[in-house]
Amino acid sequence: MATPEEMHTLTQRALAHFIAGTTDQAPAIMANPITAYTDPVRYRREVDGLFRHLPLALALSIELPQAHTYRAMQVLGVPVLLLRGGDGEVRAFLNVCRHRGARLCEPGAGSARVITCPYHAWSYDDRGSLVSRYGAPTFGDLDHATRGLTPLACAERAGLVWVCLTPGETPDVDAWLGDFAAELGTLQLDRWAIFEQRELPGPGWKVAIDGYLEAYHHNCLHGKTVGQLTVGNLLVQDTYGPHQRLTFGRRSLRELQAAPTLPGAPGQHIRLIHSGFPNLSISGILGDHCLVSQLFPGPTPDTTITRQTVLVHAPPTTPAARAASELFSAMVLQAVRDEDYPVGLGIQAGIGSGANEAFLYGRNEPAVQHYHRTVDRLMAALAGEVRA
Ligand code: FES
Ligand SMILES: [Fe+2]
Repeated sequence: MATPEEMHTLTQRALAHFIAGTTDQAPAIMANPITAYTDPVRYRREVDGLFRHLPLALALSIELPQAHTYRAMQVLGVPVLLLRGGDGEVRAFLNVCRHRGARLCEPGAGSARVITCPYHAWSYDDRGSLVSRYGAPTFGDLDHATRGLTPLACAERAGLVWVCLTPGETPDVDAWLGDFAAELGTLQLDRWAIFEQRELPGPGWKVAIDGYLEAYHHNCLHGKTVGQLTVGNLLVQDTYGPHQRLTFGRRSLRELQAAPTLPGAPGQHIRLIHSGFPNLSISGILGDHCLVSQLFPGPTPDTTITRQTVLVHAPPTTPAARAASELFSAMVLQAVRDEDYPVGLGIQAGIGSGANEAFLYGRNEPAVQHYHRTVDRLMAALAGEVRA
């Protein structure tokens, strides 16, 4: 969590809006042509340009808890293997054998000192070096140094493992994160424990992500779940280059309004959402719980897969603690699977109807505006690089 002073400042900013019935605003309404959501050529270009070249947070550090633990996953069609070496460092590789391309590890988690291919038992160490081949004398001489696993640029920052999905590219993760790294660091993600993890199919990438970037819909759509706790249409926005921190007000601001000197834990009246461009949202920190969402665009513009990870400050040891964690987990599942994404799928169903030539982002949706401007800015920069 941010320092008590900063939480106090954020609480005051939220309280001022609560009292005045206002919110942070962009200077003007923004219109985004519908083709930004539907054009398959543009979609392919943007997914390639943004998701395959920028560092993406593919895992939490705690998903690779000790030396020789690994995680295998398919991300945007790229088979990725994350390995924590004996030296404690996380490395990323293509999860593909260098003999004849077999998948080395099935998607999921495990631990192994040596990764052995299931097909003909070639083995790789924790640095991806080819260390042995079954029946090597019969296979023939081979310089092992030429057949190590294909590395992907990988760095661990702020309790997250950041990976570039394009082999040979080495984006500067520190430059990319900038001040956001320290802001993410305040969450101390490496000190939490995983309670539950699941994957949710959802609407297109932009339709889905829009819902993570505003509080405008919270009372209307989430009246029975997360909206019960949040003040609808109240947003305090801070940007960190492409990344953002959103502060929502909690209903308990009312108590603070009545008794401004009320003692209490810093931040108990607000809720922070850390939004890492292009697909990370860390939110729902309520007491001892936190929700990490990673959104991955599907093969077509109208689908995504969201990886939802529910974190607990400490694994529950009593029935009451377990029930509290289950309640939080069920609430965020319901809010996203049963409320946000059905609306998103409804948007997809009507997106080609001709009703809208553009979607509008209100002045009260500044974070949505910032996100889409960032997409456009980065794509324009990329087009400039290609032309140059
Ligand atoms: S494909 Fe992996 S050992 Fe043959
Ligand atoms: Fe929502």
